[in-house]
Amino acid sequence: MSLFQPHNSEFQQNPYPAFEALRVDGPAFWDEASSMWYFLNHADVDGLLRERRLGREPLGGLPAAAESAFEMLNQHSMFDMEPPDHTRLKTLVHKVFTPRRVESLRAQIAAECERLLDAAAAAGGMEALADYAAPLPVAVIAELLGVPAADRHKLRPWSAAIVAMYELAPSAAVAAAAETASAEFSEYLRALSRARQKTPGDDLISALAQVQEEGARLSEDELIATCVLLLNAGHEATTNAFGNGLWALLRHPEQLADLRREPGRLPEAIEEMLRWDTPLQLFRRWVRTEVEIQGIRLAVGQQVGLLFGAANRDPAVFAQPEAFDIRRGPTPHLAFGAGIHYCLGAPLARLELQLSFAALLRRFPTMRLAGAEPAYAPRFVIRGLEELRVEF
Ligand code: HEM
Repeated sequence: MSLFQPHNSEFQQNPYPAFEALRVDGPAFWDEASSMWYFLNHADVDGLLRERRLGREPLGGLPAAAESAFEMLNQHSMFDMEPPDHTRLKTLVHKVFTPRRVESLRAQIAAECERLLDAAAAAGGMEALADYAAPLPVAVIAELLGVPAADRHKLRPWSAAIVAMYELAPSAAVAAAAETASAEFSEYLRALSRARQKTPGDDLISALAQVQEEGARLSEDELIATCVLLLNAGHEATTNAFGNGLWALLRHPEQLADLRREPGRLPEAIEEMLRWDTPLQLFRRWVRTEVEIQGIRLAVGQQVGLLFGAANRDPAVFAQPEAFDIRRGPTPHLAFGAGIHYCLGAPLARLELQLSFAALLRRFPTMRLAGAEPAYAPRFVIRGLEELRVEF
């Protein structure tokens, strides 16, 4: 039986031993269940992410957008596009989603961290995901986009229903929920963006509605798909990066103590958290022109799986890759991807993680795990804990 068992609960709890056992047999393996080649090593995953003979879109394009709101979002999202459309859209979004705009959020993010931790302090502890790591990025994206406070509670359920489609082989019920959420969310954003076109504010939706580059603009559908993508791509991974990272620290108390003594190491520690327990484990690409990698001929129309968590523990690149070590220094981990689809939100994710860890460690010097060891949610692609209870 194959060691790659993405639907098996033991594998989902800890896929890393299976990756190492698979790596012994070679740099890639064929999985009958998904009819795909999977690549494990850093050089191959990095190379295939940059390889233009592979793409995010299947050759014949995505299913017709008119058929479903979910497909409409995919069709108009840079995530699923190829150049030249991808280049046009990403350039436009980069023009308004600037390092300055991200940096301008610093005070608001810090204030939101304090507000969430005030409530936790009063309670003597918290479920670190639901009470801290999940609401924070949603509030930040809502603020960035200019979603009114009264509507913010709708964002997370919509987003959760849509991202559930990124697991391998989603069920019909999951697809139906994603469709409903896509339709509701799109309609909400269409109304909001039209209102902002009439009366622009100092927010990203207004900026996206106005941005132009050499005559190119975003269509209304592209604007909607971009906002949905920013929320979807922007919060789940950040929440799980925080949860996986905090759990790593709690399991390595001597390194947690080091970090408390030397908080200046936090940026480096966050990079190690992203490497060691990567929140997004798998991305897929379609072969658009035949290519041979590691002696494997990848035919046109074939889909390949890139195992980020395995690549981030490749012994050819990382010394003692199984060890969590906040003193590792700069590493070329692939948690944010590589090539043209490299994460647009990496600077924002890093800022959110730095501020949220800094506030937590400063305010609760005796924080410890409350109750039993946490379990990972029963998924493979989006890797994160079910819950993580701490007490102060
Ligand atoms: C720790 C948190 C995060 C992780 C681990 C992460 C990871 C990734 C990865 C691996 C990709 C590339 C996918 C591929 O090549 O197929 C990606 C793309 C993307 N991410 Fe992130 N991300 C995070 C946070 C964010 C945030 C906060 C935002 C926005 C606010 C964001 C927005 C995007 C967008 C728009 C893309 C698509 C870029 C493109 O297709 O060109 N991400 N992310």
